[in-house]
Amino acid sequence: MKFFIDTANLDQIREAQALGVLDGVTTNPSLMAKEGITGKNNILKHYVDICNIVEGDVSAEVIATDFEGMIKEGEELAELHPQIVVKLPMIADGIKACKYFSDKGIKTNVTLVFSAGQALLAAKAGATYMSPFIGRLDDISTDGLDLISEIRLIYDNYGFETQILAASVRHTMHIMNCAKIGADVMTGPLSAIKGLLKHPLTDIGLAQFLTDYKKGN
Ligand code: G3P
Repeated sequence: MKFFIDTANLDQIREAQALGVLDGVTTNPSLMAKEGITGKNNILKHYVDICNIVEGDVSAEVIATDFEGMIKEGEELAELHPQIVVKLPMIADGIKACKYFSDKGIKTNVTLVFSAGQALLAAKAGATYMSPFIGRLDDISTDGLDLISEIRLIYDNYGFETQILAASVRHTMHIMNCAKIGADVMTGPLSAIKGLLKHPLTDIGLAQFLTDYKKGN
């Protein structure tokens, strides 16, 4: 299972990278705005900064919602750095753009997926990644994990190579349940990744080992 961090915060990206378990980064316009990164040139530079910290794929989202606009923006993003993945919205023109980029060998991430039907279309269009937002489904009393299971079944039925990128992950149990179902990738906050470290018995056991070591020295 690949671990992506879902942030535009460079310090958090560095911390996750230093932990040695990071496979990539996802961003979106809201995450950029949260870090105060505004204006096209600053946003493009920020993507390059992120690529220079991590070794894996970095999803960069287009703002255009029409086919021509997405192609223009996507090509500009893809030229920024070899690690860039063009992130496209799950709308008709986004699917057309996904097909265009996958035919050209440019990696894509179809975002804002909330149904298995949308996931099927993204796979048919050759998406590299497809991002179902599980936390936002949970927010409206719909089990986001059920969607991951449904998509896993459909993709396995036909051998689709599109990777299921569980997004809108909010906490450690989302990560663990996605791992059990077989999501290929999860993208979440640093807090959820670090949450996996925690167990009181680890802390108690370590303290005891150190105490016992000191007794003999
Ligand atoms: O990965 C998508 C993500 O950024 C959305 O997360 O928590 O705003 O639903 P959230």
